[in-house]
Amino acid sequence: MNSKKLAGEKAVQYVKDGMIIGLGTGSTVYWTIKKLGELVRDGLDIRGIPTSKNTEELAIEEGIPLISLSEIGQLDITIDGADEVNPDLQLIKGGGGALLREKLIASISKRLVIVVDESKCVSRLGRFPLPVEVTPFGVEITSKQLQVLGCTPKLRTKKDIPYKTDNGNYILDCSFSSISEPIELTNKINMLPGVVENGLFVNMAEIIVVAKKDGHIDYL
Ligand code: 5RP
Repeated sequence: MNSKKLAGEKAVQYVKDGMIIGLGTGSTVYWTIKKLGELVRDGLDIRGIPTSKNTEELAIEEGIPLISLSEIGQLDITIDGADEVNPDLQLIKGGGGALLREKLIASISKRLVIVVDESKCVSRLGRFPLPVEVTPFGVEITSKQLQVLGCTPKLRTKKDIPYKTDNGNYILDCSFSSISEPIELTNKINMLPGVVENGLFVNMAEIIVVAKKDGHIDYL
């Protein structure tokens, strides 16, 4: 049983004709986008806004019509994955490096639906290192400032060079042993001048679709 596929496909139940949909990034929402492609080919009338270049390519491949952010003020729904989810529907995102676009698009969506397999559910956030998107300029300084907030930051790399986001920034993956006050932490991190955005999504998700190993679905 592929739990990611199960959760991803299940979320299309929230999509209706005429909607503008934020298309998340990652291997779980991949299945949502594939399913939406099938439905579009069967006549579903939707417009998508991708949260990353990878997702944009996939949506085009699937024949999902896209619309640009400059043409709209609000989205009906965004469907996206997550790296961690707690019982208060707070999330860590950004494992795939798309957190800035994901958060921006989620912030103007009427609903944010998250699709995960059960391995992403935790009682307290923080086991997964928190991705923080930072400017390349002054990255060493920003890293030290983040350390003062109680974590060990590590510059994300790809093939031994710094990983660059779709926005041309770097990611510092910040290991906190656990995050007990996500709201306070997100505010403190975003106060740092070199920080563009962090991967804590607090008070944003409305529904979490959790696929269990045994094939059952839970809704948080
Ligand atoms: C990308 C993300 C992804 O949604 C998150 O990493 C989950 O990915 P996956 O479904 O592949 O486990 O936040 O920036």
